[in-house]
Amino acid sequence: MYKLNPLNYGYADLEPYFDEATMKLHHDKHHQSYLDKLNLALTNSPDLAAQPIEDLLTNLATLPEELKSAVRNSGGGYANHNLFFNLIGPHSDQTEATGDLAEAIKLKFSSFEQFKKDFTEKALSVFGSGWVWLTLDQSGLQIVTTANQDSPLSLGLQPILACDVWEHAYYLKYQNRRVEFIDAFFQVVDWPAVAKHYDTIKNNLKV
Ligand SMILES: [Fe+2]
Repeated sequence: MYKLNPLNYGYADLEPYFDEATMKLHHDKHHQSYLDKLNLALTNSPDLAAQPIEDLLTNLATLPEELKSAVRNSGGGYANHNLFFNLIGPHSDQTEATGDLAEAIKLKFSSFEQFKKDFTEKALSVFGSGWVWLTLDQSGLQIVTTANQDSPLSLGLQPILACDVWEHAYYLKYQNRRVEFIDAFFQVVDWPAVAKHYDTIKNNLKV
């Protein structure tokens, strides 16, 4: 059985960028719902349910046919939201990447500002529901989008930063103004947490 991770901060702590009502709905209803559906789908597969969800998503192609879509959609939703909520936090003065990640972003995108611009453009390009990611693999950093709840892990890419561009992430406060939501997202990214996550992934990949 997978579990719902509590937020590391209060529902209202990301105000005024992410509003309390959206945070409550997003975490307690949407995230919970992906988790419940995932656990239900794996009720009779305890061996699979004992594995980290990241492993199931990485090896999606090898799963039993009847479980693939539940793991892809509900398992993806669960893993994607875990990362999203873990890598945001109350607004701080640290509004740019730090550490080795800052260097890598500069190397790849020429500047942090250019990275932010490219990431925002990609986020705006997602048609319908999906995600925009900064990912890492042997070829380095890249910005990618996925539809629905597809995980970059299923594409062989390690997610470093996750931005949910489903309307449920922003519609209450921003309605159709996705660009304002992306701006707000950058105000609540927990860059020290992202840098730590990047270091772990980079060490594991040995890149
Ligand atoms: Fe979401």
